[in-house]
Amino acid sequence: MFKKGITLTIIMLSLLFFITACNTENTGNSDSDNEAAEETSGSETEEESNELPKAELSKMDQGEAVQTLQEFLNEIGYSLTTDGKFDDATTWAVTDFQLQQENLQVIGVYNEETKEAIKKVLSAGDEVEVGAGLTQEVEASTSDEETNVLANPYDQLALVNKQNALPSDYDPDDLVVPDVRFPFTEDLPKKQMRKVAADALEELFQAADEAGLDLVAQSGYRSYGRQDAIFASNASQHGEEAANQFSAQPGESEHQTGLTMDVTTPSINNELTTEFGDTDEGKWIEEHAANYGFIIRYPEGKEEITEYQYEPWHLRYVGEKSAQEIMSEEITLEEYLGAE
Ligand code: DAL
Ligand code: ZN
Repeated sequence: MFKKGITLTIIMLSLLFFITACNTENTGNSDSDNEAAEETSGSETEEESNELPKAELSKMDQGEAVQTLQEFLNEIGYSLTTDGKFDDATTWAVTDFQLQQENLQVIGVYNEETKEAIKKVLSAGDEVEVGAGLTQEVEASTSDEETNVLANPYDQLALVNKQNALPSDYDPDDLVVPDVRFPFTEDLPKKQMRKVAADALEELFQAADEAGLDLVAQSGYRSYGRQDAIFASNASQHGEEAANQFSAQPGESEHQTGLTMDVTTPSINNELTTEFGDTDEGKWIEEHAANYGFIIRYPEGKEEITEYQYEPWHLRYVGEKSAQEIMSEEITLEEYLGAE
């Protein structure tokens, strides 16, 4: 009985020794586990530096952050060249993505809200349906065969001019009436702008008010059909050649983008004439519009590039960063986009 007890103790001790040895092996393994853990934390670090860019990015930006964005866009289904250039293709992908999400401003700019939406798609392991928001092909819709029809009319930096027209059926769906002064009370469609531009215009008016100025908003959004009627009326009144200097053909007016507002002041009877540039309001606009993301789209001395006369009243929203660059370098949107 006693011997059996010893034998049992020896067996138990042996078992204990065996288990301990196994544990030691496990401890050995845990080194490699640690390595694995290090690898994991290494890849976490990599993920951190490989996170979606924090800064707002838009067309014309270049560099690592843009490249990272392109890589992430490819991860959710796009096939962009990851060259770090925020070009038309990247703008198209961002816009196409924005069109497929709810409550995102569709302006082709990578911003905080877009970043969060991409994150959501990534964490759900989803892919987007490339081109479901914004097809790349656009049917030519103008009679002038040399005019290019823009594939991305939503782009905040869309270049609309005599060479580049908006699709005839482009009608922004986020038009709102900015809370600013108008020299008329009727509820006309021309009071409207796209939300992003309307918000910016309200800030601009607020700042002008604080500077003791009296700005009024005269004419914003115009549909393709409305521009058609305006151009026809101008052409019958002044002749087509003269009308072409100050009035855009349908499809070729920035007013159809909803990113434009003509502004003036009561001291010149709320007219849209070059005199506006000499008023306090006109001078203030020239100096401060860029702070709110607006440019004077048809500057004096640049008529050969813009192909329109000087229009100190015609404000076009392009976003603050681009506006600052365009206005401080005294260039046109054509020059900024390298399209002159
Ligand atoms: N006055 C500008 C060029 C337009 O008609 O859109
Ligand atoms: Zn205008």
